Amino acid sequence: MYILGIESSCDETAAAVVKDGTQVLSSVIASSAQEQNLYGGVVPEIASRRHIEHISTTVRQALEQANLTMEQIDAVAVTFAPGLIGAVLVGVNFAKGLAYASGKPLIPVHHLRGHVAALYLSHPQLKPPFLCMVASGGHSHIVKVTDYTKFEVLGRTVDDAAGEAFDKVSRTLGLGYPGGPAVSKAAQQGNRNAYKLPTPHVEGRYNVSFSGLKTAVMNVVNQAEMKGESISVCDLAASFEWRITEILSEKLLLAAKDTNAPVICLAGGVAANHLLREQLEKGAAKIKAELCMPELKYCGDNAAMIAAQGYYEYLAGNIGGLDLNGLATLPIDYQ
Ligand code: KG4
Ligand code: ZN
Repeated sequence: MYILGIESSCDETAAAVVKDGTQVLSSVIASSAQEQNLYGGVVPEIASRRHIEHISTTVRQALEQANLTMEQIDAVAVTFAPGLIGAVLVGVNFAKGLAYASGKPLIPVHHLRGHVAALYLSHPQLKPPFLCMVASGGHSHIVKVTDYTKFEVLGRTVDDAAGEAFDKVSRTLGLGYPGGPAVSKAAQQGNRNAYKLPTPHVEGRYNVSFSGLKTAVMNVVNQAEMKGESISVCDLAASFEWRITEILSEKLLLAAKDTNAPVICLAGGVAANHLLREQLEKGAAKIKAELCMPELKYCGDNAAMIAAQGYYEYLAGNIGGLDLNGLATLPIDYQ
C-alpha cells in the first residue's frame, strides 16, 4: 500500500511516499529554519507563509522521486495535530484538496504518533508493545506504545519541552536556532563539569521539568554580566547538555526498570542528540533492554514518519472526512 504523507506542523514543509508503513520511496523536506534563525525562534506566521509557498512543489517532488503518480497512491496521510495552528492548516487543507480531487482516502495523523512511527522506518522488525520517550520542541513524553494506535502516557514535562529548553538556552548563549544542534556543537569544545547546574525536583515518578534548569543557565549569564565577568559559552553549553540528557536518560531508564520493558525507544527531534543516544546505549546495555532509535534523518520533522503512522491508522480504520480540522493541541492517547 502506497501512502503519501504530508507534514507542516512547525517549520518544515515535508512530503513523502512510504510503502506498507516501512519502506521509504521518497522523503522531501523544505525547511524555513534558516529564516526563522533571524528571529531567534519560529515565527508562526512566517512558517505558515513558507508552507503555502513550498507545499505544492514538495508534494510533487515526493511523487516524482518515488516514481509514482497520484493514481498509484492509495491514501493521503496528513498531520492534523498538534502544532502551530496556521501551519497545520496549510497541510490539512492541501491534503483535503488532494484527497478529494484524486478520490483517495484521507488519514489524519497525530504528529507525536508520527515521531514514534519513525522508529518503524529505521527498525522494521520493531513491533508494539514498547516503551518510548518522545522528546521534541513542543513535547516530552514517556509513553507505553501498547499498539500502533494505542498509547498510554506514563510521564511528561510539567513545564518546558526538552527541545524548547535547548532552544531557549541556545538563545541565551547567543548560539541561534534551532538550539539543539547549536548547543551540542558548542558543547563539544566545553567542559561539562565547569558549571554546577541543578536537577529540578518534580512531582510524578516519570515526569520531567526543565524550566528550573533553563533559568539556572540564564542566572549564570546574568550574574556574570552584572559583575562584568565573562562566561565560557562552550563550558556552559556542555554543562547544560550533560545535565538535560542525564535527566532524560535516567527517567526513561527508570520507567524501563519499573515496567521490566524488554524494548525501549527514543524519538522526536531531540533524539538526534549524540550524548543522549550514547547515555541511553550505555543504560540500556546495563539493564539488558533492547534500544531502538530512529536514524538521524528521521528524528526531526519529516513526512515519511507521517506516512508510516498513516498506514497503521488506516489499518485501524481511522479515516478522516472532508470536514477534517486542524488542532493546536491534542493528547497522543486521544481516541
Ligand atoms: O521533533 P522536532 O523536529 O519538531 C517538533 O515537533 O518540535 O524537534 C525540534 C526540536 C528543537 O527544539 C531542536 O532544538 C531539537 O529538537 N533538536 C535537538 C537536536 N536536534 C534538534 N536537541 C538536542 N540535540 C540535537 N542534536
Ligand atoms: Zn516534531
